Amino acid sequence: MKNFYITTPIYYVNDAPHIGHAYTTVLADILTRYHQLFGYESFFLTGTDEHGQKVQQAAQKRGVDPQAHVDEYNLHFKELWNKMDIQYDHFIRTTDSDHKKFVSDSLQKLWDKGEIYAKEYEGWYSVGEERFFAEEELVDQKDPIGNRPVEWIKEKNYFFKMGKYQEKLIQYIEENPNWILPDFRKNEVLGFLKQELTDLCISRPKSRLSWGIPLPFDTDYVTYVWFDALINYVSAVQNKNFKNGAPLWPASYHLIGKDILTTHAIYWPTMLMALEIPLPTHILAHGWWLIDGSKMSKSSGTGVNPIDYMDQYGVDSFRYFLAREMVVGLDSTFSDDAFKRRINSDLANDLGNLANRVYKLVETHFNGVLPAATQIDSEAQKLIEYSKELKKKVYTNIEQVKLSTLIEDIMSLVRMVNRYLEIKAPWKLAKDTNLREELGTVLFISAEALRISLCFLSPIIPSKAQEALHMLGSKLESLDDLNWGKLKGGEVFGKASVLFPRIEITNTSKTQNSTQKPLFAKDVAAALDLRVAKILSVTNHPNADSLYVLNIDAGEAEPRIVCSGIKSSYSPQELEGRLVLLFANLKAAPLRGVMSSGMILAGETENKKTSLVSVPPESKIGERAFFQNIEASENRELKIKDFQKIQLEVQNKSIFYLDNRLEINQKPLTCEAPDGSTIH
Ligand code: ME8
Ligand code: MG
Repeated sequence: MKNFYITTPIYYVNDAPHIGHAYTTVLADILTRYHQLFGYESFFLTGTDEHGQKVQQAAQKRGVDPQAHVDEYNLHFKELWNKMDIQYDHFIRTTDSDHKKFVSDSLQKLWDKGEIYAKEYEGWYSVGEERFFAEEELVDQKDPIGNRPVEWIKEKNYFFKMGKYQEKLIQYIEENPNWILPDFRKNEVLGFLKQELTDLCISRPKSRLSWGIPLPFDTDYVTYVWFDALINYVSAVQNKNFKNGAPLWPASYHLIGKDILTTHAIYWPTMLMALEIPLPTHILAHGWWLIDGSKMSKSSGTGVNPIDYMDQYGVDSFRYFLAREMVVGLDSTFSDDAFKRRINSDLANDLGNLANRVYKLVETHFNGVLPAATQIDSEAQKLIEYSKELKKKVYTNIEQVKLSTLIEDIMSLVRMVNRYLEIKAPWKLAKDTNLREELGTVLFISAEALRISLCFLSPIIPSKAQEALHMLGSKLESLDDLNWGKLKGGEVFGKASVLFPRIEITNTSKTQNSTQKPLFAKDVAAALDLRVAKILSVTNHPNADSLYVLNIDAGEAEPRIVCSGIKSSYSPQELEGRLVLLFANLKAAPLRGVMSSGMILAGETENKKTSLVSVPPESKIGERAFFQNIEASENRELKIKDFQKIQLEVQNKSIFYLDNRLEINQKPLTCEAPDGSTIH
């Protein structure tokens, strides 16, 4: 059995937690659950950082003493983690007495070894970041990280001989290329280490700051908050072992945000070297959640409250969004819109729909008892193969902490099953009793592939995955359940539940219409809303052989469904992921029973094949195309007969309305069609 010990930063208790804190913690929870899924023994540590000037000031502001403040505020974090279904093994508070003792003992040890000395010191100090900055690090006389005021401070202080470990640290980082992740953060640290590494001030005079752990060798001073805080990772697990007897330390992963990379990748390893304690295996710095382009933060008041999201949309949807939306390592923008889109498209449409479909079909045609598979054809085989490959894919992605890729790999299976159902159309098979075996097989294959997707999604959406597995008369019990073939047929389905209700989106940009005056041709050209859209997925139209049903992203609150007659010219593989030009303000209308919102524009080649309009290479989803010299009019809905009033003509591969070329940022839209032919 392999072991896995993961930590989150311990958060300052100066304010309520926001989505940034929720992110790191849920990431740790998810990684822990995946390791458990793969048979590891795990230990997950989180907690609160309760000493220091920031916390003392927060208490002062509220007019309570620091201890009362921290006793109250650490609970906000615990409550949030409980609500988010975070299964930590230990919650450390730096005011815990055994932690304080460990810090004090460590300081004494370093003092005795001559690793700490006293010196008169002056420099720029940021209360916000709780550290000194060099003159050249300041930006506009403010701290470069939080853009907060700094003050010039001169005092006697104690210093840890950090500088002497510079070469050793550089060597360590170079010899252990995966120690700091992602790679570009490692290079950032190495870059920083090109300058001379100075010693670290590790004390604050009590006269200025009383809220901290006293230095054992000079009680007029308290310990610098970072020196106290970093040690939590070791103090929390001293004398603790995994079941197989191995000690918990060193940690497998310290998860942190990029804001605290220096403290973790430079202060901490040098402290450990001096204390002769082994270094953690990996430090993984993720990016920031941004709001309007800036870091979401407590001190700037831009923190979004996670509770609001969970109360409205459920814990699992919230966890899913955080895990899926951010590429670990990079920044990501948080928006309400992005949240709703993601949940609707992935969870309500793809996953929820599939579970619902399979459940209803088995309930209706087999009285809620899963039939067995009797005849595996090539389409079923494809699903089985992919399901089998998935375990390795998930494992590799976990090893590389590629969470969004991992989720995409699982959701691909979900989408494949949806497509399989579209192709097999079990609702049609059900009409012919001769096809009952085939119907049974289709439902079995779909149910088993769905079951596997749910098992792999369970670390991300633990309760909903369990609920959905229950619907299939199954549950996740052991490592073997990740393999194809747990369902055998004969399983009795459980109670149905609505897993992920669609989120209603009030679309303010939607055009209102119907009583508007008829349009002349020139008005139509001005009113056409032609925009770049991306084809997300392609399925066959259930009732029309010549049509595809496209799920497309037009940069709006949620994806659209558009029916399109391009089936004879393009395969689904050619279409998925492709950028197209969408006639976006076409009035939605049903096409053979499927509501279609908009139309994809295309021309026709010499040999009568459809040829999609291409957008300029750098176009972005949602970007609008305009005709030269025609000013766009106010947005309104158009009918197909309005569109027929104008003719869009191809000349030299470009597209024209009269003499006005269709462009995005002065670059033409193009179509592989002969001169003089029209776009429809
Ligand atoms: O720094 N986006 O505590 P802290 C993503 N006590 N993650 C974010 C974030 C954002 N906008 N804002 C915060 C401290 N975080 C110290 C740590 S550890 C020994 C001591 C997350 O309350 C992210 O993990 O300021 C970041 O590193 C951490 O919260 C900082 O929390
Ligand atoms: Mg901070």
